[in-house]
Amino acid sequence: MTGFAGRHVVVTGASSGIGRATAILLAARGAKVSLIARRAEAIEAVRAAADGETFAAPADVSHRAALLAALAAAELAFGPIDGLFANAGTGGAFAPFSDYDDAVFEAVLRTNLLAPFWAMKQVLPGMIARRRGAILVTGSLASERGMAQNPGYVASKHGVLGLVRAVAIEAAPHCVRANCIVPGFIETEMLANLGEGALAAMNARTPQGRTGRPEEVAEVAAFLLSDAASHVTGQSWAVDGGILNTLSV
Ligand SMILES: NC(=O)c1ccc[n+]([C@@H]2O[C@H](COP(=O)([O-])OP(=O)(O)OC[C@H]3O[C@@H](n4cnc5c(N)ncnc54)[C@H](OP(=O)(O)O)[C@@H]3O)[C@@H](O)[C@H]2O)c1
Repeated sequence: MTGFAGRHVVVTGASSGIGRATAILLAARGAKVSLIARRAEAIEAVRAAADGETFAAPADVSHRAALLAALAAAELAFGPIDGLFANAGTGGAFAPFSDYDDAVFEAVLRTNLLAPFWAMKQVLPGMIARRRGAILVTGSLASERGMAQNPGYVASKHGVLGLVRAVAIEAAPHCVRANCIVPGFIETEMLANLGEGALAAMNARTPQGRTGRPEEVAEVAAFLLSDAASHVTGQSWAVDGGILNTLSV
């Protein structure tokens, strides 16, 4: 079954970009989708655009209590969680390593690594008890490669891939899967913030010669969250127009 009829999927970072596109796609395929992000108005706009059942649970995922409360509210609204897309992320700041701010490092780790850890820890026991569930975390090219001047982001994105690989092994005997999706350069607010020159450089570095669209990532995310991917777990799955397959990123 590749549809999501009756399934409850939580998407974090659902207010824009990859999370928004995935939430809309999952709802169209029949899932009950709970949307978590900080911007309540943007979540409402996603709900208005989605053709299906959605629930808004605005929260800052970098605060454990707020994230867990949002997950509890989602369960109250739509029942046990069958799918978790831990996608919310922040880019941090670029600075030479010796100038990289401790507070920025910690903030990036909280959003990009600790939040997926907290969310997975919250939903996994129920998934294991029901012997059904799929977890997907958004990594990055920085899960697989180094990048200068952004150690918080690189450490956090390597971290989520490690987290997924660790959990996947423990969860596999219980019919629960965990995977990491690795977007290349995708046209979202995060990329727009890097500026026009950066975009041209990224196009030039991508074998397909173009950046990706959030909807192209959403298709693969939906696949990895669905039963169609029933034998796929512990994987790092790139949606990157061929970048990771080249000699250098
Ligand atoms: N675009 C790319 O090229 C690219 C490449 C590799 C990886 N990624 C990853 O893809 C994921 C999604 O990013 P995107 O590209 O779709 O960019 P985006 O449009 O900026 O989306 C980021 C999402 O994360 C949410 N978010 C950030 N901090 C949060 C917090 N503390 N609490 C709750 N939600 C938070 C944002 O919502 P609010 O602002 O409403 O809270 C937003 O919905 C991220 O994990 C990013 O690292 C993106």
